[in-house]
Amino acid sequence: MKLIKQNWWDKFFMDDKHCLPVQRYEKKFIADIRKNSRVLDLGCGEGWLGKVVVENKLSYVGIDSSLYALGRVSITLAKYPKISLLNYDLENLPSGLEADVILLRFVLAHIKNKNRFIKTVSKILKPGGQLYILTPTRTGGKYPTKYRSISILDSELKGLLLGFKVKPLKIRRYPKYQMSLGAYVCQKI
Ligand SMILES: C[S@@+](CC[C@H](N)C(=O)[O-])C[C@H]1O[C@@H](n2cnc3c(N)ncnc32)[C@H](O)[C@@H]1O
Repeated sequence: MKLIKQNWWDKFFMDDKHCLPVQRYEKKFIADIRKNSRVLDLGCGEGWLGKVVVENKLSYVGIDSSLYALGRVSITLAKYPKISLLNYDLENLPSGLEADVILLRFVLAHIKNKNRFIKTVSKILKPGGQLYILTPTRTGGKYPTKYRSISILDSELKGLLLGFKVKPLKIRRYPKYQMSLGAYVCQKI
């Protein structure tokens, strides 16, 4: 396994206060995935979604730059056969990856070159495949500064997903802060 040094997230790892627990709509989305699908979880963290994926008997590949995170997933999911964990920088993924479903949960905002990344994601997705995104977005200036780095602009998200048919799964709006937390299921056009 190639070791990469980017592990900026480790300092946050990872208690329930720092990340949203898996939501009911996410469990349903995963439960509805076709049998025998290969699910790729980009920026898998501790593999919270991964657990749901393997409980649904789907094959699971988790990718993260943090070895700490991967270590935790490997313990949580040790008893499941169909898993594979890879240590890569998402901005420098190897060729040859393929997936029916790609999960991108609280990750997009951390990617520097989002355009290039989404192009790569689109190549990895098999025809008819689905991309699940959960991300905070902001429309304006009232968004609390401390969360700025973990959100992206609504308009930027729209632009990134132009090559996809986007179905909002759940959007929570926080008008006071001009922000939303959106879950989207996207299909390549
Ligand atoms: C906020 S956590 C989300 C973890 C998980 N998806 C979840 O929802 O619980 C972001 C994760 O993305 C990973 N990550 C961020 N940028 C990355 C990059 N460029 N390459 C690989 N992993 C990255 C971090 O290491 C971290 O595990």
